[in-house]
Parts: sequence; structure tokens; C-alpha cells
Amino acid sequence: MHKRTLGNSSLEVSALGLGCMGLNHGYGPATDTQQAIALIRSAVDRGVTFFDTAEVYGPYLNEQVVGEALAPVRDQVVIATKFGFTFGADNKQQILNSRPEHIRLAVEGSLRRLKTDFIDLLYQHRVDPDVQIEDVAGVVRDLIGEGKVKHFGLSEAGAQTIRRAHSVQPVTALQSEYSLWWREPEQETLPTLKELGIGFVPFSPLGKGFLTGTVAADATYGSDDFRSIVPRFSQSALQANQGLVALIRQIAAQKQATPAQIALAWLLAQAPWIVPIPGTTKLHRLEENLGGADIILDAAELQSIDTSLAQIRIEGERYPEALKARVGR
Ligand SMILES: NC(=O)c1ccc[n+]([C@@H]2O[C@H](COP(=O)([O-])OP(=O)(O)OC[C@H]3O[C@@H](n4cnc5c(N)ncnc54)[C@H](OP(=O)(O)O)[C@@H]3O)[C@@H](O)[C@H]2O)c1
Repeated sequence: MHKRTLGNSSLEVSALGLGCMGLNHGYGPATDTQQAIALIRSAVDRGVTFFDTAEVYGPYLNEQVVGEALAPVRDQVVIATKFGFTFGADNKQQILNSRPEHIRLAVEGSLRRLKTDFIDLLYQHRVDPDVQIEDVAGVVRDLIGEGKVKHFGLSEAGAQTIRRAHSVQPVTALQSEYSLWWREPEQETLPTLKELGIGFVPFSPLGKGFLTGTVAADATYGSDDFRSIVPRFSQSALQANQGLVALIRQIAAQKQATPAQIALAWLLAQAPWIVPIPGTTKLHRLEENLGGADIILDAAELQSIDTSLAQIRIEGERYPEALKARVGR
């Protein structure tokens, strides 16, 4: 698989990373740990060098699995993790916390679970309105100075926050949602990143599965699946958004590719400093997704997709009301 560099930084990664969250967080029952480790190692064998996890996934379990899987190849891979929450007594609550002393504690825990001396890319998971972003950037700058962290990232931060953070400690990457059904980053975020030389890591690049065309219009989700509370996955939204799936299927047929591969190829075509991190628990889908890196959409094809997308209205919010305030700050 070819490589990409995240913005003006020196951080080179495979053009597609692996989002590890769904192995045991957010999408129903956890994958058996040994199977999850095998899947991550299969990704390494197939040229993936960029792995995404977070303290909050599990919490903690996802980092443990990623650390275990990658320990034998630690010097060949880039591990990205995230801080930004405390979890309450039962580990179920997610309370925003980017206070400097908490960031340090979180990093020590991540290093231990990831079985490593340094974190390649450390993101603030969500902007904490109670802590100045300059203070967050300052702690990460210190952690970089101590060799515990190599690169600084933000997730779902707004343009002003990115600029303020970047003025204290250069930001290597922003990780935010971006895909064929969530293009808001094109308005302000991508121009800001381009100007500042910051890389972009789109999360949920497959629309949490929807853009692959495998989500039935009448799909339902259990209470352990985040999609059960996402308005965009309500029955009415799933029905209403079938036109988008039909469009992606049509492009896929023209390119002799699958819908998932088109969703990824489209993101890769937007800028050379974009590195999507699709998630899957299944080897055959991992292989399918990696094939997306070989599909080239030319300018005429991208224009035609743009024109078709402009005629499709996407129904349903991407986050439930209670979580909307946490994104784009
Ligand atoms: N920074 C943040 O706040 C944030 C938020 C969300 C996610 N993330 C990161 O981004 C990564 C990816 O995002 P995501 O997992 O939310 O969404 P995604 O990658 O858009 O979609 C994952 C879903 O698609 C399914 N899938 C994957 N490949 C498929 C294929 N070829 N055909 C059919 N279905 C397929 C997976 O199911 P199977 O497992 O059954 O294949 C899973 O349900 C996460 O793992 C996480 O690391 C970060």
C-alpha cells in the first residue's frame, strides 16, 4: 500500500489506516480478543502502518488489544490514541476532562496499555470548554519534549481552536468525521488545515457502515450499539437515505469496485494529506477496504459525483442532541 504524509509533518503512514474502535466499543458485542489481535496483525501484514485507538474505547480495553497486537512490530507502525475524558465510578460515564494533570495521567495509562515508550500521535478527543486550548497544547508540547509523545492531534475541533492550538504546538493531524454523507469539513476545516499544513484523518469514512450498502433500510441496533441513538440510523432516515446508497452502487459498478471502496477512494481523492481510518472486525472486509486505496477517481468523475451528491438531501443528524455540543468547537 502506498504511503501518505500528514500535512507538513514528518509523519508518514499507509494511505489507509485501521480504525480499531469497533473491535470492542460502540458497535455491539466485543470481538474475541485473540481474533481482534489477529485482525490487527493481518492489517500489518497487508501494509497498514497506521492504527487508531483511544483511552475511551472500552474504556481501556481497546488500547490493551491494540498494544498487545502491535508490540511485536512496534517499530514498524504508527499508533494514534486520544485523551480527554474521565469515566465515573462505573467507567460508563464520559466526562470531558482535558485538565493538564489529567492529560499526564491519561498518557501514562495509554503508554502502559499500549506497551510502548511513546505515542506516535496523541489527539485531544474532544475540546474541553473548561480548559484553554493553549494549556492543552502546552502539556502536549512538554510531553513531546519528554519523548513520550511524537505528534499532536485534535479531534472535532473548530477552525479557531485549531489555530490557537497550532500556535503553541504544531498540530500534525485533525481527526474528524468526513465522508460522502458528512461534508461539512469542506466549508471551513479543510481550507484551514491546508493553510496551516495539517493532515486530516477522516473518521467514520464508511458512514458507520451505511455507505457500504450493507445496512438494510429496516436495520435496527441493540442498546450496546451507538447507532441505536444516532438519528441518521433511525428507520425513517435509513429509508430516506437509500438514494445515496444507490448512487454509490452505480459509481462502484462503473469502476468495477465495491461501494466501500468508492467511499474510501473519494476521500483519498480530496487531498494528498488525507488518511481515512475505516474500521472493521472482519478480515474479508479489511481486504476489501484496502483495495479502495488502488482506485483512482479522476477530476471528471469527482465532478460528476459532486453534481449527483448535490441533488441528494441527507436525512438525520449525525449525533444525538445530547452529544452535538461536543463537536465542532
Ligand atoms: N475521533 C472520534 O471521535 C471518532 C469517532 C468515531 C470513530 N473514530 C475512529 O474512526 C474509526 C472508523 O470509524 P467507524 O468505525 O465509526 O466507522 P466506519 O469505518 O465508517 O464504519 C465501520 C462500520 O462499517 C462496517 N464495515 C467496514 N467495512 C465494511 C465493508 N467493506 N462492507 C460492509 N461493512 C463494512 C463495520 O462492520 P464490521 O465490523 O462488521 O465489518 C462497522 O460497522 C473507528 O474505528 C475509530 O478508530 C473516531
